[in-house]
Amino acid sequence: MPRLTINVDREKLAADIRELKSVEPLPTSALRLVNVCKESDVHSNEVITIIQSEPAIAARVLAVANSPLYGYSRRISTISHAVVILGIRNISQLALSFAARAAFCGSGQSNEFCTKLYRHSLGCGLMAGHLAEVCDVDEPNHAYLSGLLHDIGKLVFVQLLKDDYVTLAINTPHEQLVQVEDELFGLNHQNVGERCAEKWGFPLDIRKAIGNHHLSDSKSDCGSLMSVVAAANFLSKSRGIGCLPEQYTAKPLQGNTILSEMNPDELELLISAARVEYEILASTR
Ligand SMILES: [Fe+2]
Repeated sequence: MPRLTINVDREKLAADIRELKSVEPLPTSALRLVNVCKESDVHSNEVITIIQSEPAIAARVLAVANSPLYGYSRRISTISHAVVILGIRNISQLALSFAARAAFCGSGQSNEFCTKLYRHSLGCGLMAGHLAEVCDVDEPNHAYLSGLLHDIGKLVFVQLLKDDYVTLAINTPHEQLVQVEDELFGLNHQNVGERCAEKWGFPLDIRKAIGNHHLSDSKSDCGSLMSVVAAANFLSKSRGIGCLPEQYTAKPLQGNTILSEMNPDELELLISAARVEYEILASTR
C-alpha cells in the first residue's frame, strides 16, 4: 500500500508541540489527579477531595469498588471508605482511569479512533501496574500512570491534525508508525508524549518511559520502568487486553528484559489479572 502523505507545516507543528499552548490533551480534572498521583507518596486527602469534586468519576470509582473485582462483602458508599478498604493506590488508579476516559473519549472529534486508543491505553496501564509489582522498579506507582498515558502524543496529534492523523494512524502498520511520523512531521508520538510529560512536571522515569515505549532495552539506556511500559504495550496489544489480538500483527518485542526473564506461568497470571480488571473497568458506565 502506498504511503499516505499529509501536507503539514512542520515548523508550525514543531512550535505548537514545543509550546503546547493551543492544545491540552488532558482536562483539568485529569491533570489534578495526575499531579497528585505522580508523587512517590500519594496523599489520600488530596485524592479524595479531587474525586469528590467530580461526581461522574466518584460514581464510577464506587461502582468498581463494589464490584466482584474486590469481593468486599459490605457496601462501600463513600470515597473515603473506599480508600480505607481498598487502599489509596487502587482508588487513585481507578480515578485516573475514568478521568482519562473522559479526556480520550469526550472530545467528539475522531471519536472511534480515540475510544480505541483509550481502551488500549487502559489495557497497557493495567498490564504495566501488574508487571511493576513483580519487577525491580524504583517507583511502582509510576507504572500505571506511564502505561495509561504512554500514547498521549497520539491524542495531541489528533487535536492538531484532526482526521488527517487518524487516517494516517489507521492505515499505517503498528511497527512503522513511529518511523512514518518522523518522516512526515519530523517528530513522533513518543517525542510528543515526552514533551507533554515534561510540561506536566512528571519525574524523569515517567518521561523516559513514555518517550521510549516502542524501544527494546537494548536500544535504550533507560531504566526498568521503560522496560515495564514497553513490555506492557506489547502484551496488551498481542494478548488482546483493550483490543482484539488479531488486530496486532507486529513481530515479538526483541531484547526486552521483562519478557525474556519472567517466569512464563507468573506472566500468564499477571496477564489474566490485567484482563479481568480491564473488563470490569471498561464495562463500568
Ligand atoms: Fe505508541
